[in-house]
Amino acid sequence: MTERRLPQWTEIRALVRSRRFEPSPTQRRLNRALTINDLRTVARRRTPRAVFDYTDGAAEAEISLARARRLFRDLELRPSVLRDVSAIDTTTTVLGRSSQWPFAFGPTGFTRLMHHEGECAVARVAQRFGIPYALSTLGTSSIEEVAAAAPAARNWFQLYVWRDRTAGEDLMSRAKAAGYEALVLTVDVPVAGARLRDTRNGLSIPPALTARTLVDIGMHPAWWANLLTTRPLTFASLPSWPGTPAELLTRLFDPSMTTTDLQWLRSFWDGPLIIKGIQTVDDAVRMVDAGADAIVLSNHGGRQLDRAPVPLALLPQVVDRIGDQVEIYIDTGVLSGADIVAALALGADCVLVGRAYLYGLMAGGELGVARAAEILTDGIRRTMALLGVSTVGDLGPHHVRLP
Ligand SMILES: Cc1cc2nc3c(=O)[nH]c(=O)nc-3n(C[C@H](O)[C@H](O)[C@H](O)COP(=O)(O)O)c2cc1C
Repeated sequence: MTERRLPQWTEIRALVRSRRFEPSPTQRRLNRALTINDLRTVARRRTPRAVFDYTDGAAEAEISLARARRLFRDLELRPSVLRDVSAIDTTTTVLGRSSQWPFAFGPTGFTRLMHHEGECAVARVAQRFGIPYALSTLGTSSIEEVAAAAPAARNWFQLYVWRDRTAGEDLMSRAKAAGYEALVLTVDVPVAGARLRDTRNGLSIPPALTARTLVDIGMHPAWWANLLTTRPLTFASLPSWPGTPAELLTRLFDPSMTTTDLQWLRSFWDGPLIIKGIQTVDDAVRMVDAGADAIVLSNHGGRQLDRAPVPLALLPQVVDRIGDQVEIYIDTGVLSGADIVAALALGADCVLVGRAYLYGLMAGGELGVARAAEILTDGIRRTMALLGVSTVGDLGPHHVRLP
């Protein structure tokens, strides 16, 4: 039988831990989020349905996104043991320059819709973590504002080419004047994908005030107060548009664009050119031949063609075919540091994330983006150590088995 005794007060006192009180309710909320999915749950509570759905949603039946996430989930990570992992070095080379972490914040439109702190907040966090951030043509903060918010960041500018070419020329020269490092040309939007959630929700930019909106104001008063008491929500580089984002894309973008137009682009942009939205080996080769400095294997987070190739599945074939002729980046479906490490092991030079930081932004503005970056960076460091590698260069295809 177990012998029992009365506990001493000094023993109990030694067990009592008082946690440091966090005065900011936003930070308290964020600290409880341990994964990007936790941030997504907070984001869903904090934003109107149409805003959350615009960010979270994808095209048609959302199969492209589901498949990309499923492949990350189902792959196997294969560790080596008894390696010295006492010091983990996560630096890598992006566009020929050292980058502190092997990922970047990808371009996302309408970012001030998700949280009034918007693109400038994302750029400041990118600057703090030493990673690139690509401002979208559909941004709600201007090229110059973002450059001023994060002057030491590696800012990239994402270009959509639309029918009026002079508008694109003007944006490229502004980006150059503001010190942007690279141009990201997105090529998977000849027309807009069918984002059914946006159509069902009647999403418009800026959000329209309807009877349904009034009910929503009651449910998300902080979001609406921020929207209505800060600078009006408009596109920084485009005329305003009363319809859904997809209608705007289809009206503006030039579906007649071909690789020949890259010569026109090159005559205005002499810096690094990253071509985003590559989905076959043949197109990867064509982009190398056309003079890209880097390509992004991406299906736009599943927001364009549904049932498109899964970028991670395509990666080994592209690496095989084009080797190190240009840098190869990848995105779509990344929700953890381990996902990033898996993509690097299969040969990616850098991983772009989209929703992962946007969930953070919706959950808590700049603090939330920083929390997302912290979750990803902790995950990268931990996964590398558990795999038995201490530098990004030590990762290889033998660390991953695709199903
Ligand atoms: C809300 C949202 C807006 C986006 N807007 C753009 C855009 O303006 N330009 C662009 O090239 N890609 C855009 N994308 C695609 C992202 O750059 C990226 O390819 C995608 O988010 C990667 O998938 P992930 O969200 O699973 O990380 C957007 C994605 C989201 C989620």
